[in-house]
Amino acid sequence: MKIVNIVGARPNFMKMAPLIREMRRHPSIAATLVHTGQHYDDSMAGQFFRDLELPPPDISLEVGSGSHAHQTAEVMKRLEPVLNEIRPHVVVVVGDVNSTLAGAVTAVKLGIPVAHVEAGLRSFDRSMPEEINRLLTDVISDYLFVTEESGRENLLREGVDARKIHMVGNVMIDSLEQCRPLWQRSDITARLGLPHGDYGVVTLHRPSNVDDPATLRGLVKALAEVGRRLPLVFPVHPRTRGRLEAMEAEMESLGSSGAHYVAPLGYLDFISVVSGARLVLTDSGGLQEETTALGVPCLTVREQTERPITVTRGTNRIVGTSPDRIVTEALRVLDEPKPAVSRPPLWDGRAAERIVAILREAWPATAGPAGRS
Ligand code: UD1
Repeated sequence: MKIVNIVGARPNFMKMAPLIREMRRHPSIAATLVHTGQHYDDSMAGQFFRDLELPPPDISLEVGSGSHAHQTAEVMKRLEPVLNEIRPHVVVVVGDVNSTLAGAVTAVKLGIPVAHVEAGLRSFDRSMPEEINRLLTDVISDYLFVTEESGRENLLREGVDARKIHMVGNVMIDSLEQCRPLWQRSDITARLGLPHGDYGVVTLHRPSNVDDPATLRGLVKALAEVGRRLPLVFPVHPRTRGRLEAMEAEMESLGSSGAHYVAPLGYLDFISVVSGARLVLTDSGGLQEETTALGVPCLTVREQTERPITVTRGTNRIVGTSPDRIVTEALRVLDEPKPAVSRPPLWDGRAAERIVAILREAWPATAGPAGRS
């Protein structure tokens, strides 16, 4: 059984690593890893391959940065001949980045079935590029692997055939668990000079938060305020770095208030620093899930989440982007006891195993290749 697996951007790598590991356990599966090159800096890609022990990509498309249309189209143009050459039985895409959508469209137009891992999540905000990627990828996928009940409900409401939907758990949590001994050994907290268990972690990179100077200025001010109570470490995404460099004055006030700006961290250092945090402030999707699994309070600096289980069963609060509200909620977290860990169903480190079992069942070793040319 030939499977082509597609990754492109930072949040894809930790979702794909456990799938590749599981596929390689089965001699009947020929797993090819394609890296689109949407993310290309070592700190955004290479470091993650090493940390997650992902094998080097079999094929690198090297598309790089660009507008959404440019990036998506480049992946499609460069992936099509690869899929025509390999003629896989199924293409696996993960998450909601441009490479996810581009991989799914290219495969389905060649008549190759698509499996979408992390299907069904919806923020109901179509101004988010990821929401468009999620909607379009799901509508053309044949296998919809779901992490939480809301995913199943959303897909059913959109008219998806229930037989395509599989509740399998969360591959991100597979990586978190498989790498636990490694991230527990990281000494990043000491290297950053952070007081044990008494610091906060910040990540911000959503275009809606960082591309508008007024919004970013408000967020920086809120961080400066929180930073007076709790030291903050802020690994800065390349998109955000560019925007912050244009705001030197605010950067200085944040710096003097106890926030450490650092370059993006690798997977192991990042999970290590998050696991020991008193508080996380973020607009990331995946981090809402990782903090839920780790029992770390998370304030999501957005107006909505596509991962509601992290709020209803987890440690997440949606606080919006008003600086006053962010400060009030952060200080409230500091006055509360640490929450108990309550993992959502099937977030047990075995999601990849379930996914590969479902794919293998669909294509027994004797089946001929799928897809038309
Ligand atoms: C992308 C995803 C987003 C995900 C995020 C995680 C889409 C639509 N967005 O957003 O869902 O949460 O990745 O990081 O797919 N850059 C570098 N080095 C790199 C990659 C990017 O410097 O290795 C810079 C470039 O200036 C680029 C900018 O970052 O233009 C944005 O990169 P891009 O991949 O377009 O979007 P992200 O904001 O990273």
